[in-house]
Amino acid sequence: MAASCVHLALLLCLMIPATVASPRRLRESPADASRPTTFFEVDRPLRPPSGSSGPCSTLLLSSSFGSTFAKPPATAAYSPPRCLVAVGGRASAISLAVLEWRAACRGAQLDRIFGVWLGGAELLRGSTAAPPPDGIAWSVSKDVTKYASLLAAGRSTLAVYLGNLVNSTLTGVYRANVTLHLYLCRAPAATRPLPATAPADIVVPVSRALPSNGGGLWHQIRSADDVQSTSVALPSNTYRAVLELYVSSHGDDESWYTNQPGYRNGPFREVTVRVDGVLAGVAWPFPVIYPGGIYPLLWRPIAPIGSFNLPTYDVELTPLLGKLLDGKAHELGFAVTNALDAWYVGANLHLWLDPGSTATTAGLTSYVAPAANATSSQSGDPVDTHHHATASRLFSAAGWVASSYGNITTNATQTFGLEYTLTFETLDRTTVARAGVSAADHAGDVLYSVQARRSSPLGWLYEQGRLTVTHGLDETTVAAGGWWTGPGYRSLRTTQSSVVEDEEGGGKSWGVRQVYRYEATGGCYFRNVTSSGYGIVSDHSNEVCVKGTSSGGGAVSVSAAGAAS
Ligand SMILES: *[C@@H]1O[C@H](CO)[C@@H](O)[C@H](O)[C@H]1NC(C)=O
Ligand SMILES: *[C@@H]1O[C@H](CO)[C@@H](O)[C@H](O)[C@H]1NC(C)=O
Ligand SMILES: *[C@@H]1O[C@H](CO)[C@@H](O)[C@H](O)[C@H]1NC(C)=O
Ligand SMILES: *[C@@H]1O[C@H](CO)[C@@H](O)[C@H](O)[C@H]1NC(C)=O
Ligand SMILES: *[C@@H]1O[C@H](CO)[C@@H](O)[C@H](O)[C@H]1NC(C)=O
Ligand SMILES: *[C@@H]1O[C@H](CO)[C@@H](O)[C@H](O)[C@H]1NC(C)=O
Repeated sequence: MAASCVHLALLLCLMIPATVASPRRLRESPADASRPTTFFEVDRPLRPPSGSSGPCSTLLLSSSFGSTFAKPPATAAYSPPRCLVAVGGRASAISLAVLEWRAACRGAQLDRIFGVWLGGAELLRGSTAAPPPDGIAWSVSKDVTKYASLLAAGRSTLAVYLGNLVNSTLTGVYRANVTLHLYLCRAPAATRPLPATAPADIVVPVSRALPSNGGGLWHQIRSADDVQSTSVALPSNTYRAVLELYVSSHGDDESWYTNQPGYRNGPFREVTVRVDGVLAGVAWPFPVIYPGGIYPLLWRPIAPIGSFNLPTYDVELTPLLGKLLDGKAHELGFAVTNALDAWYVGANLHLWLDPGSTATTAGLTSYVAPAANATSSQSGDPVDTHHHATASRLFSAAGWVASSYGNITTNATQTFGLEYTLTFETLDRTTVARAGVSAADHAGDVLYSVQARRSSPLGWLYEQGRLTVTHGLDETTVAAGGWWTGPGYRSLRTTQSSVVEDEEGGGKSWGVRQVYRYEATGGCYFRNVTSSGYGIVSDHSNEVCVKGTSSGGGAVSVSAAGAAS
């Protein structure tokens, strides 16, 4: 970047929106131009519970994405893999399901968004990398066990939409394979799994119908006033409902999280969920930087946190079941506060059904939803103005559901906070999201209680031709209760620090360090990886739990892997 490009307004000239600008030809190439560079997002390996067989692997779809903008998705017929059918075909036979996306591209191309749907339910949303001309490859493995009911449900359609555009400068065609790896329980569970940790009995897509005129199955939200909705009728014996949201921002809102207050609606966005027009919960999106975001060299070859496998957001709807159990269709609506064109929002409704009755009853006992409080202010002098923004939000609902499990009251409470400061040379931004769900029976005994906290710090420093971006995710979940069979404690802390700087003679050099630490009851994973240019200069990983974090035999079998370097 030019030495004069210091102020944020000028720094913004470096931000290359995925769908607008052309990539600049950068003065670098992989060490061996004949082989594609492998890009990756740091994540933990997925381990099946002990006593599982497998994997049995099935290639679900193989396709190329050239000029696919606004074309219908690529589709393939899906039927449950033979290994699952052979053991009776029940969803509860699946101990771990992993969806693998493996893709390659040769030729320059921008980062593009893609979605994978099964029977209309979104299973994976990701960004592609932003490939340099010499070619890249990458893969993502996602735990999709929570969709076990869909995987076992019989014939349906797998769909992949990846809106790409090819011309004489952007020649890259993405080739992708989608593979399902299933691990099965050797001994089928003698008793019905408890609802707090078992996958939902059914997963209902809350997306657009498979569009005949092209595009993804996402709802497209184009402004702050835009509300998109789908009408859904619930089975009358539902006793638990969780709405899982997939969101991504594009076009004018691609880098909303850095926006100076007063510029492009500022740095605060909130996704709101409505049931028949009434607020039913919120999600504050994690600031996913796309691989072409801020400055594309920052993310080569280590992709930004959450970019290859976008995070999802759960909204507990159980307290509101009283409105939904009348057998009629209800409108599930989505909006994005302060949105600019465009947000892609999709959702899946995970429903647990009472095996002991044909109808449950429910009622709302408490509902607290004050408006979000967003502020902005300035300090400092006209030359070095400090721009501040804050936002906060509370949403809490409690309700009872009477089923053959008894009369259970569920309290779902969410709180959020944003702090943002932008100066001449720095950005410092953090959101903290807390979500608590607690279910108790009529005697007041806690069946399950899950308390989660997610903080996402993002900052940059631009000084003397050197840009450093620090991005993190810090997530802790503590769970307990008579119905809870999962890990009691889970914590993920990861920090990515990326640098790009001017070199003498006009080139750029860059590097990334990411430290990833996952600790849970039953299993841990640590990785510390450093890249310089396209090369990995150090890489250490292990699955050793630091003393005190892995007590009480959990479900995860840990094989002591050595360092990956
Ligand atoms: C190719 O598409 C990109 C992005 O739409 C555009 O910026 C560029 O000008 C196009 N190139 C040609 C040669 O049309
Ligand atoms: C997809 O699978 C086919 C068949 O196994 C293989 O030839 C191809 O290289 C794979 N493509 C990618 C991108 O992995
Ligand atoms: C809104 O947030 C600001 C900044 O944190 C705070 O000073 C103010 O009291 C809040 N207003 C309300 C109504 O809560
Ligand atoms: C369930 O409990 C709530 C209060 O805890 C009560 O208001 C409701 O009437 C009960 N429902 C049934 C069906 O017993
Ligand atoms: C729900 O839980 C929150 C957080 O623990 C608490 O502040 C609130 O009072 C609870 N609501 C009800 C109705 O119990
Ligand atoms: C990560 O690795 C680098 C280089 O080997 C080392 O300097 C650094 O201390 C390590 N960080 C952690 C948290 O282990």
